[in-house]
Amino acid sequence: MSSSLSFLATTASPFHHHHSRHPQKAARAPTHFSPSASGAGTNATNASGHDNGGDKESILRLDRRNVLLGTLGGLYGTAALGCENTAVASPIEPPDLSKCHTAHAGEGAENVQCCPPYKDNSEIVDYKFPSSSTPLRIRKPAHLLDADDLAKYEEAYRRMRALDPSDPWSLEQQARVHCQYCDGAYDQVGFNVQLQVHFSWIFLPWHRYYIHFHEAILGKLIGDDTFALPFWNWDSPDGMTMPSFFVNDKTSPLYDEKRNPDNLKKVLDYQYSHKNYENPYTDEELKVKNLYQMNKTFRESLPLPELFLGDRVRAGEEASMGKTMGRIEAIHNAIHLFVGMPEAPYRDMGNFYSSGYDPLFYCHHSNVDRMWHIYRQKRGNKIDFNDSDWLNSSFIFYDENKQLVKVKVEDCLNPQKLRYTYQDVELPWADSSVKKKLKAKAKPRSRVSLVQVSEFGPDPRPLDSTIRTLVQRPKKSRTKSEKEDEVEVLVIDGIEVPDNGPVTFEVYVAAPYGGDFVGSDLGESAGSFVKLPHFHIRKREDAQTKKFSLKLGISSLLEDIDAEGSEKVVVSLVPKVGEVTIGGVHIDLIKTDWTA
Ligand code: C2O
Repeated sequence: MSSSLSFLATTASPFHHHHSRHPQKAARAPTHFSPSASGAGTNATNASGHDNGGDKESILRLDRRNVLLGTLGGLYGTAALGCENTAVASPIEPPDLSKCHTAHAGEGAENVQCCPPYKDNSEIVDYKFPSSSTPLRIRKPAHLLDADDLAKYEEAYRRMRALDPSDPWSLEQQARVHCQYCDGAYDQVGFNVQLQVHFSWIFLPWHRYYIHFHEAILGKLIGDDTFALPFWNWDSPDGMTMPSFFVNDKTSPLYDEKRNPDNLKKVLDYQYSHKNYENPYTDEELKVKNLYQMNKTFRESLPLPELFLGDRVRAGEEASMGKTMGRIEAIHNAIHLFVGMPEAPYRDMGNFYSSGYDPLFYCHHSNVDRMWHIYRQKRGNKIDFNDSDWLNSSFIFYDENKQLVKVKVEDCLNPQKLRYTYQDVELPWADSSVKKKLKAKAKPRSRVSLVQVSEFGPDPRPLDSTIRTLVQRPKKSRTKSEKEDEVEVLVIDGIEVPDNGPVTFEVYVAAPYGGDFVGSDLGESAGSFVKLPHFHIRKREDAQTKKFSLKLGISSLLEDIDAEGSEKVVVSLVPKVGEVTIGGVHIDLIKTDWTA
């Protein structure tokens, strides 16, 4: 059993650490919080350490931009691009608000106007933490919300919806923020590349700030500074349907009519796709399947944060330049598709530009954020990426004091400093018996019809039907300590996807039966690629080919299917939605990252 595995087997509380070398106090009540070692003192440093005012900042920014332009010289056109492999790197910068333009959100949403009502760069101040005497907002599971909390929650959205649509606090403007940062309304400052907060390591931090300010605004609207967004507890069997108060009452301010009418009461599926979706499972089996997916997501990605959060993306780069999204983001995308309308333009939750019009979006993201919070706790609150380009990536939000603030990734790592936390609830997916329960219920595997498989080959292949391919492992029969040093990562690269629509494909891994034969059963799910519709790169003549990649940890999967001794594995890519081309499939060993 690998260390991460036994770690997860200690069920229930996110506060039970396998890594007892780094004990973390349970945080059950507001009075018990103690600042983490790394976070202590950041507040003071922050208040005095930043330059005060925009002038100096913009001069610095201009300088760097000139340097970048100079360095890249004539190469600039072909992409900001070379950046990836040169020493030139810097954090993602906030947008120039005065340069907001039309956004593109795929079929049926080609020219979306979602720029904010504020365009004056001079009024941006650096974010300051709420004072430590500010009450702690405690986010609770939505399906367990009591009548009082629900009444406040509804009242807050009633007031938000009643605001003038030009008011930055209105639901209209709140939703537009998501469109701005996700559908190309801004270019990265100094680059002909869109600013995009999905598919990379800034996905979780950006959304953490986004809902933090949204929550504070809702609280302000009802005059309650303890107001907390509930979380859609979709990692628990009882939370795997849309919370009832979102769907039962059409007059509720939490109701949104642009949801898939077929799924309002259905059990969700982390592998949902709105086309070619097959569900041979009962509700109970589906729930166990989801738990097992979550169990694997944590086990595989705990030693290597890029597998959970997404790849490193720096100034001038975009995720479509061969980067991978994190595994939690893929699950989150599938839930978006499950809730949204099933046809183009897939409103509301099914498309980034429109997601924020559905109050369920923020409740969904409250749980996405909670998953990250739990992930960090399970890593002993070690830093996810000890990389200044991640820590200094910054964004601009409009806060609950009607102020534009500039925030940095490094300041959001500890939710207590933002004065919120999550109610401690059971984590049924962390239980190692999840897998056994699933096995017992799954239909027996067919071992009769063997098929022959071959290697992927040197050329890209269209994924128009299931591709089954034999993949060589760098090393077989890895020892426990080798596994602690390096994670085995399945890499699918050169993934070309259409600009317009959503894309989903699934990845399965099986052990071959000696040589190059495999049973008809696809094997174990290793994860999926899920993209919502949007133009992921701006149209331009010199556009790079738009290729994503997908990295999936498979160390513990191979243990689960008893394939550690195999020299090769059979990888199956199963198309669901969208026209996809695959460049290649291989397996890498990547050093684990437990950076302090
Ligand atoms: Cu910005 Cu759930 O997406």
